[in-house]
Amino acid sequence: MMEEDYVFKIVVIGDSAVGKTQLLSRFTRDEFCFDSKSTIGIEFQTRTVQIARKRIKAQIWDTAGQERYRAVTSAYYRGALGAMLVYDITKRHTFEHAARWVDELRAHADKSIVVMLIGNKSDLTGVHGRRAVTTDEAAAFAEEQGLFFSESSALSGENVERAFLRLLQEIH
Ligand code: GTP
Repeated sequence: MMEEDYVFKIVVIGDSAVGKTQLLSRFTRDEFCFDSKSTIGIEFQTRTVQIARKRIKAQIWDTAGQERYRAVTSAYYRGALGAMLVYDITKRHTFEHAARWVDELRAHADKSIVVMLIGNKSDLTGVHGRRAVTTDEAAAFAEEQGLFFSESSALSGENVERAFLRLLQEIH
């Protein structure tokens, strides 16, 4: 196995149960687990991808969204080059909290961190859709805050790979 050229630390943040852990396992192992437990503490997974002829090892950190489990300190954000800020498109309050997560990033992360806003659970739209946040308003918020934006589904896999690769490319 060849050595990687770069290691990029990425942090995944957002409210509890928005699908942070599932997005991570979809990207790193192409898996989805229906009975996933709430994350306690901090975990990370890695996947190496090739971008512009360089091997980039994405080291992706995941922590609990639930306040009482959160051990988030500056240590979690230290050295992070990118962040995935996740909300659930069917739970409006998780989108409304995104501004608070942006504040937390501004307070603890490096100024140059690249941030992607992710509206997860896009599989739950459709005819009997449970969408509670429109694509347009999320895109407007992302633009105002200087974030990249994508909707995705960890369940179907839609846009997961694309969003992570886009983030890695923007860092690169
Ligand atoms: P915390 O660890 O508590 O911060 O939660 P989390 O954000 O890591 O959420 P997790 O990945 O554990 O997913 C929470 C729940 O949402 C689980 O029941 C998942 O099966 C479900 N879920 C995650 N992603 C999707 C998705 O894309 N679509 C659907 N329909 N359900 C999803």
